[in-house]
Amino acid sequence: MEQTPGPAGPPLTPRTAVVWSVLRAELDRRPAAELTVLDVGGGTGGFAVPLARAGHRVTVVDASPDALAALSRRAAEAGVAGRVRAVQGDGDALAGLIEPASVDLVLCHAVLEVVDDPAPVVSALAGVLRPGGAASVLVAGRAAAVLGRAMNGHLDVAAALAADPAGAAGARDTLRRRFDVESAAALLAAAGLTVEEIHGVRVLADLLPAAVADGQAAALVELERTLAARAPWRDVAAQLHLFARRPA
Ligand SMILES: C[S@@+](CC[C@H](N)C(=O)[O-])C[C@H]1O[C@@H](n2cnc3c(N)ncnc32)[C@H](O)[C@@H]1O
Repeated sequence: MEQTPGPAGPPLTPRTAVVWSVLRAELDRRPAAELTVLDVGGGTGGFAVPLARAGHRVTVVDASPDALAALSRRAAEAGVAGRVRAVQGDGDALAGLIEPASVDLVLCHAVLEVVDDPAPVVSALAGVLRPGGAASVLVAGRAAAVLGRAMNGHLDVAAALAADPAGAAGARDTLRRRFDVESAAALLAAAGLTVEEIHGVRVLADLLPAAVADGQAAALVELERTLAARAPWRDVAAQLHLFARRPA
């Protein structure tokens, strides 16, 4: 299921290829620079470790000690333990953990849908960015969840997800909220960030039979890239990726 562009490059999958394309363009703006990167809710380091391997200094703030232990093992195995810092903490308490206006690139992937309140977390992300620094934010999409529940026969859940202001389906939902393009962009704008790009991630990947997804992995990655920036496909992706910047 993976396409690997080179020995030092991150593995490219339908889950990661579009996000890496956007991040690569940002890294290429300052090719020789060692960037200060913060990954909030970075988990086991799927993005942090490749970024450290690319020569950047990465701090991962995550609430889970288990995830951070796995991150540290992964960083050591990759030979980049000295460039990866693991910090246990909450995304909305960043101000006490990270110096304000000190970060070039902040990642917050698959976190805003699980925190108590996303607004203070996004505000904290904006606060740690240097002027001109960039934010990579990945959130769960509501439309894909509605379609997925309906196609599996759960029309009641699909209706609840479509109607709920937060895009959640009651107490048994594993996520607290999901986003539309407009609601996600508004959340970032309210924190003073300028949204530069919005892509859909996993437009097709979750809809295909495994035999197709695995058997035509390279073609799927290419098709995901092609559809990612274009409505209506972008808007029905399982995740929405927003790339934003703190004004210089
Ligand atoms: C779904 S995982 C995403 C991991 C990684 N960002 C990725 O995209 O693969 C969510 C991560 O966010 C962390 N997390 C959840 N709530 C958090 C919070 N309030 N502050 C910091 N991390 C949090 C979890 O421990 C977990 O590692």
